[in-house]
Amino acid sequence: MELNAALEEIGRAESLEALQALKVRYLGRNGLLTQAMKALGQLSPEERRERGRSLNEWKERLERALEAREATLKEQALQKRLEEEAVDVTLPGLAFPSGGLHLTSLILGELLRIFRRMGFSAVEGPEVESEFFNFDALNMPEWHPARDMQDTFWVEFKGEPSFTIQGPFGEEVNSLGGAVLRTHTSGMQIRYMIRHTPPFRIVVPGRVFRYEETDASHEAMFHQLEGLVVGEGITMADLKGAIAELARGLFGKEGRVRFQPTFFPFVEPGVQFAMWWPERERWLELGGAGMVHPYLFRVVDDYRERLGLPRVYQGMTGWAFGMGVERLAILRYGIPDIRYFYQNRLSFLRQFKG
Ligand code: DAH
Repeated sequence: MELNAALEEIGRAESLEALQALKVRYLGRNGLLTQAMKALGQLSPEERRERGRSLNEWKERLERALEAREATLKEQALQKRLEEEAVDVTLPGLAFPSGGLHLTSLILGELLRIFRRMGFSAVEGPEVESEFFNFDALNMPEWHPARDMQDTFWVEFKGEPSFTIQGPFGEEVNSLGGAVLRTHTSGMQIRYMIRHTPPFRIVVPGRVFRYEETDASHEAMFHQLEGLVVGEGITMADLKGAIAELARGLFGKEGRVRFQPTFFPFVEPGVQFAMWWPERERWLELGGAGMVHPYLFRVVDDYRERLGLPRVYQGMTGWAFGMGVERLAILRYGIPDIRYFYQNRLSFLRQFKG
């Protein structure tokens, strides 16, 4: 065995595996050095001492060479990894697109916050509604001209068990009727009253649908916010106070309201209300409202009776309102076309990130 050749070989090993093989070859149990050590027994004592000393020295030098080479290889491997996995912190970063609420959600959230402050709870109802809740129970019988104003999507629907209720002129009205995509959120007034005992204050946000020819100011789908307050001794003054509070919530201290008489079948008297927009010095026509028509209370009590619930609406009064959510946004931000809302055009929507 040639020591210098071995040392050189170790110094040239290119990998830890190769190095390990050399270690086995020289120092392993059957390694060359080990064999040479074993052969010592055949030598004379003098030769043995001499040879033994030099073998020990070889062993030590080989071990040191192996250790040194191992350290070098490990160091090289680390350097290589550091280079390969290096991150250039000076490169420009990747921008994460951040989401935001849709304009409609922002406005709805604002409206709900204002009403929550006044003690209202928010409830939701079905978007596919029965003809009875959407029309009949709201004092809009089949032949009523007010129905024409709400072009309707009718939905095919298999009948469920139903009963009849006396209509406004004593006629029999089916408590279910056909199914429609609700044309307004007012049907929830009836649904809520049937299941709850006054007093209460609710608002109902939701999507509504009309069979419209769409243009800049008409969409087949939009949102409304409905309100309903029922209790003993509730008056038109409470309605005015609440809408005025809404105006202050939306437009600040200077917010004012204007009521003008109008007709809706489910209120008497009925009004349309507008809000003063101080910044632009103009009125915004926002929705309809009025005192709940006594017919609604009668129908609700009849319905409750059919469900085995007590009649609780006699002697109650209440008010309701309904307003368009997109309409508020359109007026406030001067949006020229309602169709912008639901075209998912980000350049439009991003302007209103909450
Ligand atoms: N439902 C009516 C509409 O869609 C809005 C409305 C008017 C709701 C008067 C009301 C109300 O609750 O009292 O045009």
